[in-house]
Amino acid sequence: MSDQPTIAAKAPAKVTLQAGKDYWFCTCGKSATQPFCDGTHKGSSFAPKKFTAEKDGDSWLCQCKHTANAPFCDGTHKSL
Ligand code: FES
Repeated sequence: MSDQPTIAAKAPAKVTLQAGKDYWFCTCGKSATQPFCDGTHKGSSFAPKKFTAEKDGDSWLCQCKHTANAPFCDGTHKSL
């Protein structure tokens, strides 16, 4: 079994988050509801990353799954 995440897309997803709300970020790359977890990781070595939004508004969440600043896009997708 590979420990490399699947690249869901080589571009981030723009999502509107609510301050104080918890979200589950997909780290395996196989979720059909990117950038969030849909449970597809089960049976793999991956687990979703829970995070709490700090502010209301739009954020760009990583879909290439190679960011060093999960769940946020850090531009790494450009070098894949
Ligand atoms: Fe992964 Fe931009 S989408 S770093």
